[in-house]
Formats: sequence, C-alpha cells, structure tokens
Amino acid sequence: MNNRREYFDALAEEWDKMFTAEDLEILSFLIESFDIKAHDKIVDLGCGTGVLFDLLRRRVGPEGLVVGVDLSAEMVKKARKNFPFKNVWAIDADAEMLPLKSELFDVAVSFAAFAHFTCQESVMVEASRILKKGGKFHIIHLLSSKELDTYHLKAGGPVADDHISSLERMKEIFSQGNFVDVSIIDHPGLYLAIGTKG
Ligand SMILES: C[S@@+](CC[C@H](N)C(=O)[O-])C[C@H]1O[C@@H](n2cnc3c(N)ncnc32)[C@H](O)[C@@H]1O
Repeated sequence: MNNRREYFDALAEEWDKMFTAEDLEILSFLIESFDIKAHDKIVDLGCGTGVLFDLLRRRVGPEGLVVGVDLSAEMVKKARKNFPFKNVWAIDADAEMLPLKSELFDVAVSFAAFAHFTCQESVMVEASRILKKGGKFHIIHLLSSKELDTYHLKAGGPVADDHISSLERMKEIFSQGNFVDVSIIDHPGLYLAIGTKG
C-alpha cells in the first residue's frame, strides 16, 4: 500500500479547481522562459491532471512529445481525459523507476511534485538517465521551500513532512544525477531549481 498514492488519488477529481488564473499566468511565464523548442520531447514528473500539458504542448508543437508521469492512477486518468492529443501521453508510474527509454527527452519538468518524491535522489538519477546530454531538468514550486514546509504541515497526512532540502543538499542531489550548472531560486512565491545534464 502506498499512502501517498491513495492521498493523491482521493484529490484527483477536484484537483483542477486548485489553480487560479494568477498561477497559470506565472506558469506560462516560467515555461516561456525555458529553452523549449518545436519538436522537443518533454517529460513532466508528477504531472497530476496535466496542468502544464497545454503550455508544454504549445511549445513543442505537433511534432513534439509531452509525456506526463504520475504515481496516482486517478490523476493520470484525469490527465488523459483532459488532454486527448496523440502527442500527449500520461503514464501511471513511479518517477523513482521510470518505464522510459534512456536519453529520450530534451527537457524535464516537475511542478509542485519534487517535494513529494520519497527518494528525491532516485528521481534525480532517473531524470538524468532519460534526458539527452545537455537536457535541462526544471523543478518548480509556486512557494518557497520554507512556505512549502508550512503548507505541507497544514495539509497533514502522508505529505506533512514532504519538503525540499537545503540549497547545499539540493546541489548534491543534482550532482548525484550528473547535472551541472545548477541554479536555484528560493524566495516567497517561487522555488525554481534548474540543472543541465552533463
Ligand atoms: C501536488 S501534486 C502536483 C501535480 C501537478 N504537477 C500539478 O501541479 O497539478 C503532486 C503529484 O506528485 C505525484 N507523485 C508523488 N510521488 C510520486 C512519484 N514517486 N512518482 C510520480 N508521481 C508522484 C502525486 O501523485 C501528485 O499527483
């Protein structure tokens, strides 16, 4: 039994109501700032119901590919229903053991999910494995690491202790995945960590 899976399964039906127009505006601005090209293949780790899919799909165009991965089968079911496009796939799987080919993707993103990964080191190694050399992994939360701690504590249940590690530890975790040029922004309203596969 995976408590975290059950926790997110139970939230899936109402999940899309979580997002405000302001959240979507910030996400749109962030995605625009990433180096995503037409034809790129993008993986979204912990994709939920696919809140990023439309933004990503528009960047990669009809020849590109968006693959979302989520542990919660109910989130994946919703993502598939929300985005029935032939170049948008949602897969029910654990980001710590991705059923995806090595060096397939140009870009990886993880929005509002990295703090929830039980073994963040494994996810980092897996993200690196499936990225092409030079591919970037973007970890996004629309709260600072400190704000996330408070938010998860208040949410309680299996996510009460979910967190983002210190800046030094995150840099170590990135380097375990052979990521270089790591940049981390951690301020109220935004946590954004980006590494490039070396
Ligand atoms: C807070 S939600 C964010 C979902 C989506 N990115 C969004 O912002 O709407 C966190 C998601 O991470 C997923 N998740 C947690 N652990 C995971 C894992 N090990 N592998 C894949 N997904 C996971 C959960 O099922 C959940 O859908």
